Formats: sequence, C-alpha cells, structure tokens
Amino acid sequence: MRSLAIINGPNLNLIGTREPDIYGTKSLDDYLKELAAKYAQVHFSLYQSNVEGELINFLQQCRGRVDGIILNAGAYTHTSIAIADAIAAIEIPTVEVHISNVLAREDFRKTSFIASRCVGSISGLGLKGYDLAVQYFLEH
Ligand code: DQA
Repeated sequence: MRSLAIINGPNLNLIGTREPDIYGTKSLDDYLKELAAKYAQVHFSLYQSNVEGELINFLQQCRGRVDGIILNAGAYTHTSIAIADAIAAIEIPTVEVHISNVLAREDFRKTSFIASRCVGSISGLGLKGYDLAVQYFLEH
C-alpha cells in the first residue's frame, strides 16, 4: 500500500471550530498533516471539497493513481447516490470514516448510501478513525 487518498466532503474543512462538542477542537487539516508525517512510507493525496461534483471528479481521478481511499463524505453520505456510484465505478478499495458516531445521532444520519460500496466503515472514534483506516490499508 504505497499511495492513499484521504477525501473529505462538505463542512469538514471547519472541523476544529464546527460544533466542537461533537467533532472536537482539533483542526482536521492539522491532524491529517500530522498523520501524513507519521506514515512517511505512504504517499498521501489529501482532498476536501464542499461540492458534490468536485468530490466525484476527484474520486474518478484516483483511478490508476492510488491504492486505497479513505472517505468521509460528510452529509453527502446520507444523500448521494452519485458518490456511491463513483466508488463502485472506480473499483478502488475505500474505507468510510465518520468522526462522530452517526448511528447515535439523528435518524437521517443512520442511512449511508456509500457504506455498501466500501470495504468497511469507522464511525464515532473521533479523528483517530482516519489513523485506523490507514492502519487497515497498511495491513491489507
Ligand atoms: C460526519 C457525520 C455526518 O452526518 C455529518 O453530516 C458530517 C460529519 C462525521 O464525520 O461525523 O458532516 O461525516
């Protein structure tokens, strides 16, 4: 596993200041830079967009370039058949990550259109979920 993309969807650029009681006070940007430094043997492509089509474009661009994808699609998790179709189309193993425990929140967060397209999901373990997803890829 030499190359991983970590893709974050809408409002995840605000982690650190957004609803800190749910998502914590550490900036996701800072956390992911530290994570990339920790796993220096891996080439990381870090991408965030608030725009559904841009996320799909980036997923498609991953074809032939990365060995695995770590995806937190934010609220698009619960709405986007198009992102689910993109994951299926590109055939790159993808791990779904959520910082909060989506199953312990509002009912609309309990549906994930993307989960069935992913090798697995990590939810509710905070930012550590991204690290655990990297470890999964390093071991598989
Ligand atoms: C989230 C959970 C989603 O329900 C929410 O819309 C987000 C963040 C998480 O990481 O916990 O934006 O994906």
